Amino acid sequence: MARIYLACGSVFGSAILTTDEIQQALTQAGHDVHRPENASVDDLTDETLDYLIVCTSSTGNGEVPDNLAPFHVALLTQFPRITHLRFAVVALGDSSYDTFCGGGLAIDHALQELGATQLSEPLKIDAMETTEPELLGAPWVMSLLAQA
Ligand SMILES: Cc1cc2nc3c(=O)[nH]c(=O)nc-3n(C[C@H](O)[C@H](O)[C@H](O)COP(=O)(O)O)c2cc1C
Repeated sequence: MARIYLACGSVFGSAILTTDEIQQALTQAGHDVHRPENASVDDLTDETLDYLIVCTSSTGNGEVPDNLAPFHVALLTQFPRITHLRFAVVALGDSSYDTFCGGGLAIDHALQELGATQLSEPLKIDAMETTEPELLGAPWVMSLLAQA
C-alpha cells in the first residue's frame, strides 16, 4: 500500500473523468489516495507521501488549466522540497496544436527540476485519436506502479 497524491487540471472535464478512473483503480488496489479539490504544493512536502500523479489537459497555447495553474506557479516560485516523491504525469491534449500536451509537459518539467523522481515520460493522450481518455490513464498508472 502506497500513499498517493492525485492532482487534476481540467477545463471541460475530460481530465476529471480520467482522474476519477485513476482514483478508483488506485483505491481498489488498496492504496491510500489523497485527491483534494485544489491541489496544493504545501501538501507535497509531507515525507510520508510516496507518489504524485498529475492528470492534466492543456489550454490556451500549451498552458495548464486555470484550476491547476496556481499549483504550477507554486512549483516554480516556492521550490517545495519534494525529492522524496516519485511522480508521473498523464497529459491530455490535441495533436493539432503545436503545443501538444504543453500543460502536462510543463508540470513534468517543473517536478523534475525540483528533484522528484520521474517514473516515466508523460503519457500523452491525443483527443484526435480517442474520445475516451478515461480508458487509457488508469491502466497506464497501474502498470507504472506495478513496475516501481
Ligand atoms: C481553447 C482550447 C485550447 C487548447 N489548447 C491546447 C494546447 O495548447 N495543446 C494541446 O495539446 N491541447 C490543447 N487543447 C485540447 C485539450 O487539451 C483537449 O481537448 C483535452 O482533452 C481537454 O481536456 P479537458 O476536458 O479536461 O479540459 C485545447 C483545447 C481548447 C478548447
